[in-house]
Order: sequence, then C-alpha cells, then structure tokens
Amino acid sequence: MKKLEDYVVSIPDFPEPGIIFRDVTSILQDADGLAMAIDSIREMVKNLDYDVVVGPESRGFIFGVPVAYAEHKSFVPIRKKGKLPRETITAKYDLEYGTAEIEIHKDGIKPGQKVVVVDDLIATGGTTEAIAGLIEQLGGKVVKLCFVMELAGLKGRERLAGYDVESAIIYE
Ligand code: PRP
Ligand code: ADE
Repeated sequence: MKKLEDYVVSIPDFPEPGIIFRDVTSILQDADGLAMAIDSIREMVKNLDYDVVVGPESRGFIFGVPVAYAEHKSFVPIRKKGKLPRETITAKYDLEYGTAEIEIHKDGIKPGQKVVVVDDLIATGGTTEAIAGLIEQLGGKVVKLCFVMELAGLKGRERLAGYDVESAIIYE
C-alpha cells in the first residue's frame, strides 16, 4: 500500500535555483493519492467545532473545497489581489520566492465564526500568517491550520506559534 508521500514528486531548482519544489499535482493525478490527501485533511478536522473552511488561491482551493463539501461546511476563498468582485480587505506578505498580496471578501467571515484554514503546503508560513490576520481582522477565530505538506526547515510552524498546525507530510 502506497503512502501519501510516495505520490509526491520533488523537483530541484524549480521555480528558481536552490528551491526543491514539492509538486502537489503528482498527488492529484492518481485517484488513490487524491483520495488519501483529502481524507488526511478530513481526519484532521473531524472532531472540531467550526463553521467555515478558508483556502487560498490556487492550490488551497484544490483541497479546501472538497473538505468543506464532505464535511458540509461553507468555503470562503482567499484570492490574489484584484480578483474578488465585492468589498475586500487585503494583506501583503513574503513567500519562499517572491511577494504576494491576497484578499478576502469583507463579508466572508462573520464576527465570532470559527474557521479552519486548508492549504496544500506550508513553507515560510507567510501566506498562512497573512490569512490568519485577515480572518481575525474580520472577527473570526482560527481553530486550526491544515496542510498536505510542510517544509519544516522554513520554520512556518514557529511563525504560527499559538495556532493549532497539522500537516499530513513533513519534510525536514
Ligand atoms: C504556495 C502554496 C502556499 C504558499 C506557501 O502558494 O500553495 O499557499 O505558497 O508558502 P509560504 O508558507 O512560504 O507562504 P503560491 O503563493 O505559490 O500560489 P499558488 O497556489 O497559486 O501556486
Ligand atoms: N510553495 C512555496 N514553496 C514551495 C515548495 N518548495 N514546493 C511547492 N510549493 C511551494
């Protein structure tokens, strides 16, 4: 029986020298890999009390929506700047490579709602820290941060100290 990590193809020097790219598409293109990845996140949230799944464009959508659907929760997208049509709030942050600006609809999270964040991967934790900040700015409570993969060497977990963080695969 293959394990989830067996489906991940790692590409050295992509998208720039020195980065080992952990390619989530190699999990998705196998039916068992895809099911295992979604199920692993469902397992992380199964005993939690929460209202909403939040996932960032684009790879966070791949896992966030199926988990929300399967658990009968709503899904609120975080998008790259300029894509959401209604009133938004914005956060700017640094990535393992480059910088980004993300947005959420102002009415996406209601004050007091409990939120689970789902993404494919945590590297520096910059994206997730920005997402947590947006949720909290809207009065939401971050209950858990769930990932398929974690690049532990980049210390995202330390950056997110105080939050409940869980990843299906951890690369040291
Ligand atoms: C990737 C990944 C995470 C983030 C992790 O997204 O899907 O969201 O980087 O990096 P961090 O922990 O250092 O913030 P990216 O911004 O490349 O966008 P994409 O999903 O559209 O490829
Ligand atoms: N996002 C940020 N760093 C990454 C990496 N090393 N592999 C895949 N996605 C990433």
